[in-house]
Amino acid sequence: MKLLVCGGAGFIGSNFARLRAGEGDEVVVLDKLTYAGRRENLADVEHEFVHAGIEDPAAVAAAMDGADAVVNFAAETHVDRSITEPDAFIRTHAQGTFVLLEAARQRGLRFLQVSTDEVYGSIPEGSFTERSPLAPSSPYSATKAGADLLVASYLHTYGLETLICRGSNNYGPYQYPEKLVPLMILNALHGDPLPVYGDGMQVRNWLYVEDFGRGIGHVLEHGAPGEAYNVGGPDECPNIEVVRRIIELTGAGEELIEHVTDRPGHDRRYSLGSEKVRALGWQPQVRFADGLERTVQWYRDNVAWWEPIRSGAYREYYTRQYGRALG
Ligand code: NAD
Ligand code: TYD
Repeated sequence: MKLLVCGGAGFIGSNFARLRAGEGDEVVVLDKLTYAGRRENLADVEHEFVHAGIEDPAAVAAAMDGADAVVNFAAETHVDRSITEPDAFIRTHAQGTFVLLEAARQRGLRFLQVSTDEVYGSIPEGSFTERSPLAPSSPYSATKAGADLLVASYLHTYGLETLICRGSNNYGPYQYPEKLVPLMILNALHGDPLPVYGDGMQVRNWLYVEDFGRGIGHVLEHGAPGEAYNVGGPDECPNIEVVRRIIELTGAGEELIEHVTDRPGHDRRYSLGSEKVRALGWQPQVRFADGLERTVQWYRDNVAWWEPIRSGAYREYYTRQYGRALG
């Protein structure tokens, strides 16, 4: 199969491209290379690369020619950035998704939109199903929910074969160190403070990135057009516990934990029920304890991957966010 993977130079997209190229698919990656997109993520992946935004109709049309299906990972993905600078979230998730859908419609291509559990909002107990109402809280999740609705409308209105995969919090190799797990690993390895928002009792449903990639592939091949599929991880864990485990795995000290001002509108808990995708034959293979250990090891082994980020763009972002420099 020839796959157009939009946003394939980012964390989950590059892991997905690696998985699919390894299984013999022809992979074309289209990516704007924002701060989060890096060619280095695809260094060992056989692929064709198109440097463009999904909101660029001419580039999208050219990249889609000859493809059998489109998988869209392209997005702005950091909730904290969506609170301070929401513009790009609206442009990419609304206009960008629209441009992709139009091009896929003209060619009659199967279209899979990669989405998130955050579109359902926060849940105090139990788990969301695909029938739960969308109740997003942040500009990130609201624009992702908008994109989901637009994708669904292309099935109802034009009969385009659309699918939506809503993943829970991913972690693993190649994740940009602004997200909780890689940020805490690198700060712990450097002896920098570990900034825990509020009381740290917010719960996330952790999914190893390769499990999500396999789930997306499974839905692409076996999913029913027009359906959304939740792809949730096997374990839930409060943030403070994630940080304590990372301290243990890195040999850092508990005194690095620093409770900082909570994120505005912070969702307390996410949890996905994944019975629908499990019925298609998918199940997660990596438990959180095992995946976290592998992830810490990957960051230890790949200094050349993260060193330019920590010494460059991310340093500036961190200083803006916390009013002090990284060590
Ligand atoms: P990421 O930030 O690591 O990567 C995003 C990629 O999209 C980057 O390569 C970036 O350059 C590219 N991009 C951004 N805007 C673009 C545009 N306008 N045109 C083309 N490319 C553009 O994100 P990620 O964590 O890999 O997330 C990928 C997808 O998975 C997103 O849609 C996200 O909403 C979803 N998701 C993420 C998680 C998670 O925990 N990270 C969980 C569930 C779903
Ligand atoms: P994040 O990785 O940004 O993912 P999301 O907000 O999409 O779930 O954050 C995961 C959780 O960790 C979330 O509850 C916010 C919290 N968090 C911190 O406590 N400190 C941090 O420095 C970061 C980045 C996140």
